[in-house]
Amino acid sequence: MNKTFANDIIEGLTAQDKYLSSKYFYDANGSKIFQEIMHMPEYYLTDSEFEILSLQPKQIIDTVNFKEPFNIVELGAGDGFKTFKLLEYLVNNDIDFHYVPIDICQGAMNSLLERLKERLPSLSIHPRVGDYFEVLSKENLQTNIPSLLLFLGSNIGNYAKEEAKDLLRLLNQNMKPQDKLLLGMDLKKNPITIQKAYDDAQNITKRFNLNLLHRINTTFDGDFKIDDFDFYCHYNPTNGEVRSYMVSLRKQTVVLNKLNKSFNFDYNELIWTEVSKKYDFEEIEALAKHSNLKVEKHFLDCKHYFSDVLLVKA
Ligand code: AVJ
Repeated sequence: MNKTFANDIIEGLTAQDKYLSSKYFYDANGSKIFQEIMHMPEYYLTDSEFEILSLQPKQIIDTVNFKEPFNIVELGAGDGFKTFKLLEYLVNNDIDFHYVPIDICQGAMNSLLERLKERLPSLSIHPRVGDYFEVLSKENLQTNIPSLLLFLGSNIGNYAKEEAKDLLRLLNQNMKPQDKLLLGMDLKKNPITIQKAYDDAQNITKRFNLNLLHRINTTFDGDFKIDDFDFYCHYNPTNGEVRSYMVSLRKQTVVLNKLNKSFNFDYNELIWTEVSKKYDFEEIEALAKHSNLKVEKHFLDCKHYFSDVLLVKA
C-alpha cells in the first residue's frame, strides 16, 4: 500500500502538471473531515440522497422487484449511515435479505457494524473488508440469489469520463444476469449551488485537501509547510466538472526524506487533486449504454439535485 502510495506521489509531483489523487484523502483524519463536509449545509449531496432513501425505499424495492431472499451489496459502505433508511424499511417490512457491506477500511467497517447491531439487531449482515472488485468477483457470482449493488454518494463523480465507463463495465462483468445496480449521481444544477458546496465559507474543504500534505509528511518524513499552500476549486458548468487544486504560495522545495526525493514548486504552481463530476440525464444514458447497462429508473429528491439511478444489464 505504501509502495503504491509512494509511487503515485512521486509520479504526480514530478509530472508537468502536478497532481495527487483524491483517493488518498481518506486517512483517519481525512475521513473525519469528510464527515464534517457531509454535515455542512452547503454540501447538499448528502441531504439529497438521504431524502431519496428515506422517502422512497418502497418505490426503490418495488421497482427492483427481486424474489426473496436477495442481497444488498454496498460498495464503499464506509462508517456512514447513508443506507440506514433503506435497511430499516426492509427490516420493518420483514423482507428476507442479507446486507453485504464492502469497505477497504477495517476501522470504518467496525463502527458501521457496531451502530447497525444496536439500531437494527435483527439485520443479517455479512461484512467484507477489501477491495470492491476482489470481493465482488470472489463472492457475488458464486451465490445464486440476486444482488442489488449499491454505489452511493456520488463516488462515481471522482472518476474521469473514461474511468467511469471502465468502472461501470467492471461492475457489469461482476453482476449476475438478474442483478441490479443503484448508482448515486450528482446532477447538473445552478452552478452557484455547486460552487458553494465545494468552496465552502468555513474552509472545511480546504482542510480536507491540505490534510493530504499532512499525510504525506507523516508517511514519508516530509517537510511540506501546510501554510505555504492554499486551496482553489472551480465548477465548469459546460462540462459538469468541479476541479480542486492546491496552490503553492511561494517558490519552494519540499523534501520527502524516506523517499530520498525533493520536489520544486513555482510561485502559484497548482497541484490538481480532484474532479467531482455532475451529470445530466443524457450523459447518464450514454454512460450506461457504453457500459452495456440500461437505466431502469431515476429516483430523485424533491429539488432534483441528485439521482439514485437504477441500472440493469442491457
Ligand atoms: C465523496 C467523492 C462524493 O466529490 O463530492 C467532497 C468528495 N470532495 N468535497 C465529492 C468531496 C470535496 C465527494 N465524494
